[in-house]
Amino acid sequence: MRVLGIETSCDETSAAVLDGDGRILSNVVSSQMAMHARYGGVVPEIASRHHLENLPAVLEESLGAAGTTLEEVDLLAVTAGPGLIGALLVGLSAAKAIAFARGVPLEPVSHLEGHLYSPFLSAKGAPAAAIVHPFHGLVVSGGHAELVRVEEEAIVPIARAGDDAPGEVFDKVARRAGLGYPGGPVVDRIAARANARRFPFKVGRFNDGSLDFTFSGLKSQLVREFEARGIEGDRREEEVTGELADLLAGFQRSIVDQLVDRLEAVRRREDVERVALSGGVAANSEIRATIAKWGEERGIEVFLPDRALTGDNAAMIAFAGLRRFRREGPRDFLAVNARSRWPLGT
Ligand code: KG4
Ligand code: ZN
Repeated sequence: MRVLGIETSCDETSAAVLDGDGRILSNVVSSQMAMHARYGGVVPEIASRHHLENLPAVLEESLGAAGTTLEEVDLLAVTAGPGLIGALLVGLSAAKAIAFARGVPLEPVSHLEGHLYSPFLSAKGAPAAAIVHPFHGLVVSGGHAELVRVEEEAIVPIARAGDDAPGEVFDKVARRAGLGYPGGPVVDRIAARANARRFPFKVGRFNDGSLDFTFSGLKSQLVREFEARGIEGDRREEEVTGELADLLAGFQRSIVDQLVDRLEAVRRREDVERVALSGGVAANSEIRATIAKWGEERGIEVFLPDRALTGDNAAMIAFAGLRRFRREGPRDFLAVNARSRWPLGT
């Protein structure tokens, strides 16, 4: 079995080939990050245009690296949402055309469901790990924060981002500190050599008892701290020391604390046996280490995605598509439309 996955929901153009055991045969990711960096974030029109230009070459490279051809593909899987609508349409239209021309089934996939199952994939060519249900999934990325319970037959939402997504605040705070885009990796490295205890920020929470995530208050607090200290203009990562480094470390610590706070709250309400962390922000060293330790101390199995699979990639889309296809069978894919909004479990 050969599954061809396609992902174009944001600023990565990606194509991947998996076999029927969820083994990654190829996973080509062409990042437009550098293109968008000068604007401090992703520009939708530029993203769509580059997907259109890059996708044919990315597809060819992915098939070649997997030692296969379009004629050998048995199933297509493509991200149909959530994401930038113009960007999604490029991948979806290409996938529809290939599936129609080849007469093979096409599974439209939720980008978030792709992330959700990514911790079970191996970046080193091993088959996918066995998935035991139920498990709790925490997806943290540039556009989303979702905490769900994943059962055999359903995904049950528990909490989601009530305002800004975690990756978004990493990016905005880093940009305001003059550190460029994307902000997550830079803040991660600076925090590792700074003192997070010097500026303790409170854990964000809504007042109505909801478990939804809230990070925009933290972002505003950081901006106020920067203003009070006259921190402005661009700077290089290596130059960041002292107060600014410690502020960024405190900021990151507060995000980690909030994620753990929500996991603890869920643990008080229901059985939590397994937690799978995913999304671009799951690359963060402190988040990985803290949640792994949290699980270890409580006898909870924590699944972390391989770092190479935390960012957007088509392997996770192919895997989620394969799972759905096996459960639900072929569908009328020509009628499927791209959706900019698509929360997990809907
Ligand atoms: O999942 P992803 O690649 O794209 C979306 O679907 O949004 O996530 C990208 C986000 C960006 O906001 C980026 O700053 C963040 O993931 N990110 C990180 C780290 N690496 C990437 N955030 C914190 N720490 C990191 N090491
Ligand atoms: Zn993503």
